[in-house]
Amino acid sequence: MGAGCEARALLPSFACIVVKMPGLARVVGLFVCIAAPLLSQAGSPFVGSDVCRTCHPDVWANFYKNPHYKSIASGKEPAERTGCESCHGPGQAHVQARGGKATIVAFSELAPAKVLDNCLRCHAEKISRANIRRSSHTLSDVVCTNCHSIHKSPVPKFLLGKRQIDLCYGCHNDVRSQFSMPFKHRVNEGFMVCTDCHNPHGAFASTWRMAARPRMVDQAAANEEPCLRCHSEKRGPFLYEHEPVRVDGCETCHYPHGSTNSRLLRRPVVFTMCLECHNGSDSFGRQNSGVLTITATHNLADPRYQNCTTCHVRVHGSNSDPLFLR
Ligand code: HEC
Ligand code: HEC
Ligand code: HEC
Ligand code: HEC
Ligand code: HEC
Ligand code: HEC
Ligand code: HEC
Ligand code: HEC
Ligand code: HEC
Ligand code: HEC
Repeated sequence: MGAGCEARALLPSFACIVVKMPGLARVVGLFVCIAAPLLSQAGSPFVGSDVCRTCHPDVWANFYKNPHYKSIASGKEPAERTGCESCHGPGQAHVQARGGKATIVAFSELAPAKVLDNCLRCHAEKISRANIRRSSHTLSDVVCTNCHSIHKSPVPKFLLGKRQIDLCYGCHNDVRSQFSMPFKHRVNEGFMVCTDCHNPHGAFASTWRMAARPRMVDQAAANEEPCLRCHSEKRGPFLYEHEPVRVDGCETCHYPHGSTNSRLLRRPVVFTMCLECHNGSDSFGRQNSGVLTITATHNLADPRYQNCTTCHVRVHGSNSDPLFLR
């Protein structure tokens, strides 16, 4: 049975109403009755969102608040991009069968990849989701509906399934303890959120720490680390850069989440961190010699020299001294 037959099957009841109309209204009504199906897609399997209300009143009741309601409100979108059927597909077969999961796009039955395809029909353009197909979330079958809830979002903004922090900790519980350390960014306190630094939809390969996995760390403008959005005084450009800050990234010396060491440092004692690179054994330092542990100027046997940053105060870069002494 073709879809055209279905459309005609609906006609008699409508014609009946039209015939009962008086005068001019009847003429207009008849025109609508005959021409409308021809002008719009004749025999369309789309039935419109109003039809769904009868049997799914709970879903309908809240839908006017949903950003996806705009397609109904505007009335300008084609049927396959309007209202309920923009996501759930044409509803005619479903309505005729009086329900059932097999007759409609039921997300509870869809494989993750299908959910992704469905949503990306409309949501693929934004640059912030350009990497979604190769993000580690997608590669691990974590897709839109694991984080977003179209009909039951308790968070009106972005239709998240839960408050962001509960959402992310729901799967990344180990990270919670990192944000409970003595020195930390105040995410648990609600001062910051994960998405200040991460893009859960995936990120471009970073221009810092190029050998490392991007870890979905979002980029601020101009391919910068997200850290610089807030710590802008570390941005430079400095006349004398300390290479690891720009090339290796902030994470070389700092834990981004939390640390038992002050300043979120990776090592409890600053000089041990400096000496991981400046130990004279590698090609670091001037003349490829690094800083030897015992020289005339730096004698590590003398505790005074162990506090590297008391002299090298501009360790993130300086505009006045190549040795970051001021
Ligand atoms: C933006 C896409 C989208 C639109 C538009 C949409 N839905 Fe859904 N719907 C979903 C997704 C995804 C689910 C799976 C559950 C979830 O993630 O909230 C779902 C689930 C459902 C369910 C299963 C029961 C439930 O509450 O989970 C029903 C019934 C339903 N939708 C009906 C509708 C009706 C009726 C409309 C129009 C008023 C509509 N949907 C509009 C995406 C959509
Ligand atoms: C005549 C009543 C009726 C109408 C009209 C109707 N539905 Fe349903 N629908 C049902 C019933 C009953 C179920 C439950 C099927 C089940 O749970 O096995 C259902 C299930 C669904 C599901 C699957 C929910 C899931 O578990 O994933 C979706 C999606 C859905 N309907 C969307 C729609 C949309 C969109 C429309 C409008 C185009 C619509 N329905 C119109 C009765 C109806
Ligand atoms: C791992 C969780 C997660 C997954 C998977 C996910 N999102 Fe999101 N999404 C979020 C969070 C969190 C935000 C809020 C971002 C913010 O606060 O800045 C968001 C924001 C959004 C926004 C609004 C802001 C914007 O970037 O335009 C849209 C639209 C969106 N997501 C669509 C999708 C679609 C479509 C998919 C699947 C293809 C998807 N999301 C998959 C977590 C997720
Ligand atoms: C037919 C096109 C279409 C489909 C399919 C679609 N969306 Fe949307 N979505 C939109 C439009 C349009 C908006 C509103 C954008 C705006 O407000 O400017 C939107 C908004 C959103 C937002 C942002 C809410 C906010 O507060 O900013 C999220 C999240 C979202 N959609 C998720 C999804 C998910 C998940 C799916 C798949 C289940 C999906 N969308 C399927 C068109 C679509
Ligand atoms: C449904 C479970 C789930 C949710 C919800 C979730 N994630 Fe994930 N996340 C995963 C899985 C699975 C992986 C991949 C395996 C891994 O590396 O641990 C992952 C990986 C990551 C990674 C590491 C990427 C990499 O390349 O190693 C980051 C960062 C991340 N998620 C952040 C977030 C943020 C931020 C949120 C909240 C907006 C979130 N996740 C929500 C399951 C989830
Ligand atoms: C201040 C910025 C920032 C915030 C806020 C942040 N992250 Fe991260 N996160 C990073 C950076 C940078 C990395 C990469 C670290 C590396 O490569 O050594 C990372 C790595 C990760 C990883 C992968 C490595 C690991 O430790 O398993 C996960 C998962 C993760 N973050 C989840 C989260 C979650 C969940 C939240 C929110 C509760 C969050 N992050 C908040 C910056 C941040
Ligand atoms: C959303 C803004 C924001 C972002 C993004 C951000 N930070 Fe922070 N950061 C702060 C604030 C505010 C503090 C002050 C400490 C507090 O919150 O109690 C802080 C503290 C710090 C401290 C400790 C400073 C001290 O005086 O003890 C370090 C180190 C640090 N951040 C490094 C980073 C790194 C590295 C990144 C990127 C991975 C980053 N931050 C991203 C806002 C931010
Ligand atoms: C070579 C190692 C190293 C790198 C790379 C590095 N830092 Fe630091 N950072 C330090 C040290 C060491 C301290 C503590 C300075 C002290 O003892 O006074 C510090 C302190 C800080 C502080 C707190 C004190 C202050 O100066 O405001 C912030 C904030 C900070 N760093 C942010 C960043 C950001 C953002 C980046 C990336 C752009 C970064 N750091 C890269 C070593 C580094
Ligand atoms: C990840 C490796 C790394 C770490 C950790 C590191 N540095 Fe450096 N540092 C470098 C490199 C690379 C240069 C540039 C060397 C060159 O130009 O030959 C440099 C340059 C310097 C210079 C300028 C001298 C010169 O030879 O140009 C000083 C001073 C310096 N670092 C001090 C420190 C201090 C103090 C610390 C600890 C807070 C530290 N560095 C941590 C890699 C590192
Ligand atoms: C008491 C102040 C002081 C302390 C503490 C100190 N430095 Fe220096 N550092 C200097 C001065 C002054 C110079 C320039 C004179 C010179 O080359 O001897 C210098 C030069 C350097 C250079 C350039 C090397 C070269 O061969 O020219 C590096 C790298 C360096 N320091 C790293 C460190 C590290 C790493 C520490 C901690 C273990 C440290 N400094 C502790 C004062 C200090």
